[in-house]
Amino acid sequence: MTTATPATAVVAGHICLDIIPTFKTRLGRAQDFFVPGDLLKIGAPVVATGGAVSNTGLALHRLGVPTRLMGKVGDDLFGRAITDIVRGVAPELAAGMIVAPRETSSYTVVLNPPGVDRMFLHCPGTNDTFGAADVSAARLQGARLFHFGYPPLMRQMYLDDGAELIRLFRRVKRAGLTTSLDMSMPDPRSEAGRVNWAKVLRGVLPFVDLFLPSRDEIDLMLDKKMTLSALADLLRAWGAGTVGLKLGDQGFYVRTAQRELLAPCFAVDVAGTTGAGDCTIAGFLAGWLRGLPLEQTLTAATAVGACCCEAPDAGSGIQPWAATQKRIARGWRRRAVTLSLPGWRWDAKQQLWIGPNDGK
Ligand SMILES: Nc1ncnc2c1ncn2[C@@H]1O[C@H](COP(=O)(O)OP(=O)(O)OP(=O)(O)O)[C@@H](O)[C@H]1O
Ligand SMILES: [Mg+2]
Repeated sequence: MTTATPATAVVAGHICLDIIPTFKTRLGRAQDFFVPGDLLKIGAPVVATGGAVSNTGLALHRLGVPTRLMGKVGDDLFGRAITDIVRGVAPELAAGMIVAPRETSSYTVVLNPPGVDRMFLHCPGTNDTFGAADVSAARLQGARLFHFGYPPLMRQMYLDDGAELIRLFRRVKRAGLTTSLDMSMPDPRSEAGRVNWAKVLRGVLPFVDLFLPSRDEIDLMLDKKMTLSALADLLRAWGAGTVGLKLGDQGFYVRTAQRELLAPCFAVDVAGTTGAGDCTIAGFLAGWLRGLPLEQTLTAATAVGACCCEAPDAGSGIQPWAATQKRIARGWRRRAVTLSLPGWRWDAKQQLWIGPNDGK
């Protein structure tokens, strides 16, 4: 590890190697071709990094934010592949990567045959051992922002009601950085699905400046469905500074102490939504780091999320900041919001919905 390269943003947490075999022919039903004892010929693999660190971190880099990726890998072949891919984008990006001797790197085999639902084989590996001690003060030096993704896929972070996650965020906050947190969907059939997430959130949110999960994740974690306003008020009462909720194809909602806004999605031909949430966060963080007004920050978030959807992978659709802004300025059309928004009003100039609590 070297801290020689200053970074504005540190993106830490979940990273893995995605191995995606290509299937040349339409195969029919999964049970007809995954047959014990059979050999199935496949094409060349697509090999890429995945996870919050890779998706949000590389998108921030493409948007021009000096960024350091802080994922944990083992000293094995897949770990070297992960670090090589990151370093291949820009050497300084990999300066914060953590290598754990004798541990296994995290990888995912993505089985995505045409006409069949995607299947994932996921090895959590080093993501499960990532702890607060992995993020030393030296690794944070010079950074303004610390973004962390996917506690539900990182065992140390959710055990013991999130004690390690709380320790991590308390430490980073005390070091003077702005803290940002993203979640992932806890699999109800897994250990993460049995965690008391309300308790974890009550513990960690006092140290989180920007809480940026998807609404579906929080609905599942709290096991109830509330209005956007009520949900954001609850999360803010638990200690979160700003709450941003990703709403899938309905856009992105943000609540601060004074503001309540919703940006609809930009209209694009969707090639795939892999990484769309992570890239939306990257757009939001890039706008925030530039000190833009909330309206423009929110618009940048949905613009970067939409660019991500234009490519099948998690990041190649992302354009530099200036090109993204130009596209917005040219009058890029928004999708209609079909959510019911009682008490909200449409701001035609900003192309945003303004919430009933805005200005209160
Ligand atoms: N059809 C679409 N067109 C344009 N933008 C989209 C579309 N679908 C999603 N987005 C963008 O991507 C974001 C992803 O929202 P979602 O609620 O799916 O987050 P997520 O669950 O964290 O996603 P991910 O699966 O990438 O982690 C939205 O807030 C929006 O900005
Ligand atoms: Mg997500």
